[in-house]
Amino acid sequence: MTIIRDKSTGTKVFREVANEIAELMVYEITRDLPLADVEIDTPMGKTVQKQLAGKKLAVVPILRAGLGMVDGVLQLIPAAKVGHIGMYRDEETLEPHEYFVKLPPDIDQRDLFIVDPMLATGGSANMAIDALKKRGAKNMRLVVLVAAPEGVRAVQEEHPDVDIYAASLDERLTDNGYIFPGLGDAGDRLFGTK
Ligand code: URA
Repeated sequence: MTIIRDKSTGTKVFREVANEIAELMVYEITRDLPLADVEIDTPMGKTVQKQLAGKKLAVVPILRAGLGMVDGVLQLIPAAKVGHIGMYRDEETLEPHEYFVKLPPDIDQRDLFIVDPMLATGGSANMAIDALKKRGAKNMRLVVLVAAPEGVRAVQEEHPDVDIYAASLDERLTDNGYIFPGLGDAGDRLFGTK
């Protein structure tokens, strides 16, 4: 987190480390997924061991910054499908707007990991969760790198059924909706667009 917060970190390293943190977070996020017994043969003989209980998973990045966490998540759950939700934030009102939704067709049967590096006001996350629920999704977790207390509260109030995983809980939101100390604009830093 120190590396990606540092404003002297360039795009290449920012992208690599954001994915690496997302990958590390997947250990925690998948800790309670149901397991099933499976019988296998080791070179020494038969044994019953555990494996994931065939639960279908999907990763849903909130565009565009969420893309910066997808590869990291897929490193650990490579069979997961990937849906996309496009949101942009009106820079004046800070209100989120949905412009694109493309999801696996069986979204209602999958456990979803919604990824977005920054949970600021909670507006985009709440709108993304609404969009997913509207299309039948039932089980989802929100995975972020940096959260503001205001955003955590907003999501917990509107969607108490959605667990939030954050690599860091920061101090506060600034007047223009950035997280302090945060890391700046995650999309710009990931894609070098500033
Ligand atoms: N989105 C960002 O990219 N950064 C913030 O600090 C808040 C929202």
